[in-house]
Amino acid sequence: MRGPIPFEPWPPTPAPLSAACVALCDYLVVQGHLLKQGARYRLTFNAGLYLASPAYLGCAVKFLASDATVSAFCRLRQVVERGVASIQELDWVEYARSMAPLAQPVAEFAAAALEVDSAGPIQVLDIGAGHGFHGLAIAAQNSSAHIFALDAPRVLEIAIENARQSGVAERYHLIHGDAFEAGLGGPYDLALAANFAHHLDDAANVRLWCFILAKGHQSVYF
Ligand SMILES: C[S@@+](CC[C@H](N)C(=O)[O-])C[C@H]1O[C@@H](n2cnc3c(N)ncnc32)[C@H](O)[C@@H]1O
Repeated sequence: MRGPIPFEPWPPTPAPLSAACVALCDYLVVQGHLLKQGARYRLTFNAGLYLASPAYLGCAVKFLASDATVSAFCRLRQVVERGVASIQELDWVEYARSMAPLAQPVAEFAAAALEVDSAGPIQVLDIGAGHGFHGLAIAAQNSSAHIFALDAPRVLEIAIENARQSGVAERYHLIHGDAFEAGLGGPYDLALAANFAHHLDDAANVRLWCFILAKGHQSVYF
């Protein structure tokens, strides 16, 4: 799913840089972040890898340092007293957009650990799918798997776009709605709920997983 690391070519000769900019770039050369040739600068391999490739993780800050996430941390005492954070307060659209690069390697590892490549034509429910990469990693490793992604409609717009970009949209199905109210369909061979259960209190977790297991799905929670 992750694209190749782009090779950073030397840029064309730039317009003359200000003295301040040259000083800054030269400092970054000394620090090992830029290479310099004449008046031109380009990223070193490592800087290119972390700043200008699919391995770039900096966008996660948009969710992790968002007002909604920071203000949730400011109410830590309430959360501890209640025993669970409120899942409704966070911006899951921003999460789906900006946390995907962090999730992709984990999702690929998890799909491989589940040995889905040899599982044949499986139907997989992805509860709280977000960006969708947990289900998409399974679809990538098993070309006959069908994934059923459950989440809010605005979040699933991002998941289906990621499914299109991964070339598996025809095997990627959307279930709009709330895990506790939507008809889940099934039965499924596998039910995923990645990074979901810790948002629920004990009673809600028991309710959700009893319901899933009662429908005869094999289940996995991580
Ligand atoms: C922490 S994110 C996890 C996303 C993805 N599974 C991952 O591992 O990165 C939690 C997701 O659960 C969704 N969600 C929250 N409450 C839900 C509910 N009651 N029913 C379905 N989805 C829900 C949110 O919209 C969000 O996309």
